[in-house]
Amino acid sequence: MALLEVKNLGISFGGLRAVDEVNLQIEKGQLYGLIGPNGAGKTTLFNLLTGVYQPTDGVILLDGVNMVGKTTAEISMSGIGRTFQNIRLFKNMTVLDNVKVALHNQEKYSLLTGIMRLPMYFIKESKMNDTARNILKVFDLDKMEDTLASNLPYGKQRKLEIARALATNPKLLLLDEPAAGMNPNETAELMDTIRLIRDKFDITILLIEHDMKLVAGICEQILVLNFGTELANGTPEVVLHDPAVITAYLGE
Ligand SMILES: Nc1ncnc2c1ncn2[C@@H]1O[C@H](COP(=O)(O)OP(=O)(O)OP(=O)(O)O)[C@@H](O)[C@H]1O
Ligand SMILES: [Mg+2]
Repeated sequence: MALLEVKNLGISFGGLRAVDEVNLQIEKGQLYGLIGPNGAGKTTLFNLLTGVYQPTDGVILLDGVNMVGKTTAEISMSGIGRTFQNIRLFKNMTVLDNVKVALHNQEKYSLLTGIMRLPMYFIKESKMNDTARNILKVFDLDKMEDTLASNLPYGKQRKLEIARALATNPKLLLLDEPAAGMNPNETAELMDTIRLIRDKFDITILLIEHDMKLVAGICEQILVLNFGTELANGTPEVVLHDPAVITAYLGE
């Protein structure tokens, strides 16, 4: 069974069909690319997969379980994590706390335990600190755990967002243009990190990215959207040589 199976997914905004009859099958462990021109419906597809929008048509099966109708919190608990096209960190919290927030869906203690600082509080907090630091290490952010998120340079904020999404312990991680605004060196480094987390954390990744070369270098399979519908789907070699894809990108 595929980890994610999307069938005939669609949503309309007024008269606009932002996503239309989209089908997608992602196997466990795959690094899958999602590309397409501006306004193609990429972010909308992520919003459908995470319950931000409810589809007008179609089903979304995660491990065979339909996610349609579930809330964003329920879908996060089911195992779909994401980052946003525009960074959404808790700017006035430290790097460490940004990651710990995401761990609270797994490590719970009662309100009383928290207020009274009962032993369980210290056990859980210390466990969360360890987990959060391990994740930060992967992104080379562990030395900056006390820095406020707002004081991090831009590229590191992007990394922290991915670290926080990872902390929700997803089976499927959705990354919406993680390299946006990064310079070529930062981008290359980030792509290595993305490959590493796929291998190290044994998760499946769906990645939106504008740079076709970059996607081809890292993804095994690519879905191309255009005007909300599938323009192409296949391996990078096939997709990037598809005349329809080239035309859509060059706007001929
Ligand atoms: N909440 C909404 N209400 C109305 N229209 C919307 C809404 N969200 C998205 N759209 C429209 O749906 C279409 C797809 O938008 P979307 O943000 O998914 O594109 P995208 O592929 O992510 O583009 P980009 O590469 O610029 O990020 C656009 O025409 C957009 O204006
Ligand atoms: Mg987008």
